[in-house]
Parts: sequence; structure tokens; C-alpha cells
Amino acid sequence: MRNILEVQDVKKYFPLKTSVFSFMNRGKKYYKKALDGVSLHIPEGRVSILVGESGSGKTTLARIILRAIDPDSGSIIFNGSDITRKTGKELRNFRKQAQMIHQDPYSSLDPLMKVFDIIKEPIDIFYKDYSNEERIKKILAVLDDVNLKPSAVFAEKYPHMLSGGERQRVAIARSLVIEPKLIIADEPVSMLDVSIRGQILQIVKQLSVTRKITVFYITHDLTTSRDIGDEISVMYAGKIVESGSIDRVLSNPLHPYTQALLDAISEPKFENIDKEKVIRIKNFDSAPAESGCKFFNRCPYSMEICKKEPQLESKEQNHNVSCFLYDKE
Ligand SMILES: Nc1ncnc2c1ncn2[C@@H]1O[C@H](COP(=O)(O)OP(=O)(O)O)[C@@H](O)[C@H]1O
Ligand SMILES: [Mg+2]
Repeated sequence: MRNILEVQDVKKYFPLKTSVFSFMNRGKKYYKKALDGVSLHIPEGRVSILVGESGSGKTTLARIILRAIDPDSGSIIFNGSDITRKTGKELRNFRKQAQMIHQDPYSSLDPLMKVFDIIKEPIDIFYKDYSNEERIKKILAVLDDVNLKPSAVFAEKYPHMLSGGERQRVAIARSLVIEPKLIIADEPVSMLDVSIRGQILQIVKQLSVTRKITVFYITHDLTTSRDIGDEISVMYAGKIVESGSIDRVLSNPLHPYTQALLDAISEPKFENIDKEKVIRIKNFDSAPAESGCKFFNRCPYSMEICKKEPQLESKEQNHNVSCFLYDKE
């Protein structure tokens, strides 16, 4: 299968302000290692999930992929070409093909614009040569696609007249209208009522099928992943600890962190999971280790060797893990 996107060893350290005591440790700088060598690939035309707890670096990765911020090192390969340092026309061309859906449907839409104009804006930027008639057609079609019907009625509304779920659909329509190849959805349902999350997830899933769009779906919540995902990467403290096909990873979780995430779920649909594989983490609040395996302080299986850095390695077909428990010798 072809990869539409490859993330190669991306690092991003944010400097921490230490102004209060900076006279005590002259010259020494502290960093938050938001991403500490992330590698992953996203196969074309499928839904890939990125799961990890809050603060693990998910949004930072999304912003780096979409060139909102630059990584300290590493590369982003889109459709076979390195876009990490592209500028001008080439960057613009990439932006047309990769779109983001944000977490907050309330702040992502301009309250002074009608739905019609909100969706028209990206067309005006990227498809200047479209006639007015073409624009109207596209806008109404995309509103139909996200189930905002009758589309002509919704087109006339302002954001304050819409529910949270409807707003998020407008945001999805806005990112769809320029026909991107990749959509990154950063926790698109986490601010919505539980009762309507399923509908939004279904819309996202359908898009990947009907419009052949690759979806990179970011969430802190494993429960929803299985319904829409084909592949999954599990992130902990700025590193991918496990990845592979969603069926393999969720039915046979290898990394203790993935096992702990599954333990937190008591949904019936996960009942076929091997209970012996599911563990409880210790020291739930302890910070990630500075070096070696980041999960060291929380892991019930920590060993001396875990003070070294584990590598993400293939353990079975389409299933990788970064953990010394599975070392061959
Ligand atoms: N611009 C920034 N400056 C400093 N620290 C940041 C910045 N952006 C993110 N961080 C820190 O990096 C870590 C990862 O953040 P983020 O990518 O937002 O995580 P997630 O989306 O998984 O919750 C957090 O500890 C966050 O506080
Ligand atoms: Mg986030």
C-alpha cells in the first residue's frame, strides 16, 4: 500500500521559561520535549488513528505536518516529496491538499460570516478561476455530503444559529470543499455531546470511502478508534510506542502503555481482548522518564535495560512495538 504521508524522526523541543530562578542556574536551559523522535506513516485512502493522553504531543505533530510550525529536526514526506522546508508555490500547493479539522467548533468559525461564505473562503483562495455558478454548486454539494440538509437553508445561517454538531459539520465541509487528499482531524468530537459524536465519526469515515480522502484522526479516546480506524499509532510522551493495523494492535496490545489504555475501557465491544494482556499502570501521576523508555516510571515491568532507548520494531506483520519485553535475546 502506498503511503500518502511519512513522518521521519521528528523532534520538537519547546524552551521552558525559567525566569524566576534563572540566576541560580546561569546558562542552563530547560525544554519540554513535545516530540522526541516521532516516525510514522499514513497509508493512502484509509483512516489512521493517533491516540495518546493529553499532553503527549498529538496537536504539535498535526501542526508540524501541516507546516503551521517547524520541527527542530526530522522530515515530513507528502506524496513522495519532502515538504518540511518548502516555501512559496510548492507550500501553497501542499496546503491545498492537506486540511485540518480542529477540536473546537465554536472558535474555528467566524461568527460574522454566513455558512455559505465560510465555505466559499477556501475556494476563493485556492480556486480563483471557478465561476460563481461553480462555487454555489460546490458549496451546496459539500453541505449535502455532511448531511446539512436542505443545504440551501443551512447556507444562509450564521454559526450562532447552529448546534455544536452542526458547526463541526460546517468545519468539515469547509475543509472538504477544496478537495484535499488528506484531512487531519484533531479530536473533532471531544467538545461535542456524547450523543452526537457517532454521527460526526460516521461522516468522517464515509468521506474516506466516498471521496477517497485519507484521514489522520487524532484522539485521546481509544473507544471511538475501532469504529472508524484502519491503522493506529499509540503515542506516549512524544514518542510512538506501538503501531500497526487496528485489529492487531487492539486484539493483541504489546506495549504496557497500550495495555493500560485498554484497561481504562470497559466497553462491551472490547470484551474479546485477552484480559491477561491488560494491565494496570503504577504511579499514574509520575512524569515521563527523561531518557531511555519514557514509560519507565509507570511501567510494572520496568527492567534495567529500559534505561536505554527502545526502538520501534516490527513484531508481526503490520504490528510494531517499542519495548524491551519483546527483545529476541
Ligand atoms: N507553543 C508551545 N510552547 C511551549 N510548550 C508547548 C507549546 N505547544 C505545546 N507545548 C507543550 O508540549 C506538550 C504537547 O502538547 P500538545 O501537542 O498540545 O499535546 P496533545 O495535543 O497531545 O494534548 C505539552 O506539554 C504542551 O504543554
Ligand atoms: Mg491536542
